Amino acid sequence: MSTKKGGDIKKIVLMYSGGLDTSCMLKWLQDNYKAKVISFTANIGQELGEKGSFKAIEDKAYKLGVEKHYTVDLQEEFAKGYVIPTIKANGLYQGVYPLSTAIGRPLLTIHAIKIAEKEGADAIAHGCTGKGNDQVRITVTAKALRPDIKVLQPLVSWEMKSRAEEVEYAKKNGIPVANANKKYSTDENLFGRSCECDVLEHPEEIPPEDACAWTVNPAKAPEAGEIIKIGFEKGVPVSVNDKAMEIVSLIGEVHKIAARNGVGRLEHMEDRTVGLKSRETYECPAAVTLIAAHKELEKYVCTKHENSFKTSIDQRWGELVYEGLWVDPLREDLEAFINEVNSRVTGWVKVSLIKGNARVVARDSPFALYSYKLATYELGSTFDQKASEGFMELHGLQSRMAYQLKKNLKK
Ligand code: ARG
Repeated sequence: MSTKKGGDIKKIVLMYSGGLDTSCMLKWLQDNYKAKVISFTANIGQELGEKGSFKAIEDKAYKLGVEKHYTVDLQEEFAKGYVIPTIKANGLYQGVYPLSTAIGRPLLTIHAIKIAEKEGADAIAHGCTGKGNDQVRITVTAKALRPDIKVLQPLVSWEMKSRAEEVEYAKKNGIPVANANKKYSTDENLFGRSCECDVLEHPEEIPPEDACAWTVNPAKAPEAGEIIKIGFEKGVPVSVNDKAMEIVSLIGEVHKIAARNGVGRLEHMEDRTVGLKSRETYECPAAVTLIAAHKELEKYVCTKHENSFKTSIDQRWGELVYEGLWVDPLREDLEAFINEVNSRVTGWVKVSLIKGNARVVARDSPFALYSYKLATYELGSTFDQKASEGFMELHGLQSRMAYQLKKNLKK
């Protein structure tokens, strides 16, 4: 991070959301560094709400004096390069959080750097605080790609210390303020919505209904629920209710069905990379449904040894990505294994979505290791029950011996 004024910084690419923080930054960067600013807004499936449209964000940026604005549609790249690997890795940080914000950051940074290179900028700037994971994800990625680039973080270095002071700054500088009383800090993309701040910072308080924007309250969701059938090919979701779909629309479709059944509300005490414990709330209807379905199909085709080993690989993958180390070669090393396992994750899964719950209820796969003939309790099973006798004798050998020895020791 550099906080140096003027001089060596001549052109800055700002990762611009169109919200209050980064709108103030647009102006502040120009004034503080006497530099040209280029703004960059990506579409990764976020809802724009009061920001209106990408065109409105672009107009606002030009009005605030940027030299050039980029709007880039990254939905497909995000879905293919970031969401699919997360599904294949059953990516749930601390068993809960589907990493939606975490996987968006490296992608946004890679594109900010691309623009910086094209425009000959010497710095990028972003709207993250100094307390979270997102600053780590952006800075680590940027510095890996371009060790010489400066990463500016005005929220840490500027003089404004509260949202109220930002509103004041905005008013003074002719920056339109759309939502001055916004309570929560949110981040959205097609895989999930994160919501923090205000009453959510009190873990002993139940998150209020207004912290949710995507999902129906489970208590008010339809009694009957719905069954969704998801088809997979080599670990990649390819159809919903037997209708083939490309990945961006597929995520949208699963989102719609899960959200109307109240699925995807998450709440947990998260261990951030910077050491803080933080109470986090999310709405990830598509992620929760797709990961549950994928995990179950994978379990169906893998041996118990693979299932046990992959759980620890998945956990490692999730931690690495959460911690902002997308660029670390370990991620691709782990993915080599993850992709190999996923080469057999083909088939379909039915998930019951009912009043906030997503529960797998049926599955099928040409690679299933389940065999009805072996497993059935009906007559005619091919499983030789007499073989179990010898197995039990040897399987328990050491445990039996140890138990007896321990018992005699205690006498
Ligand atoms: N705790 C989550 C993560 O580290 C979400 C961060 C959300 N960011 C935000 N601006 N609200 O990925």
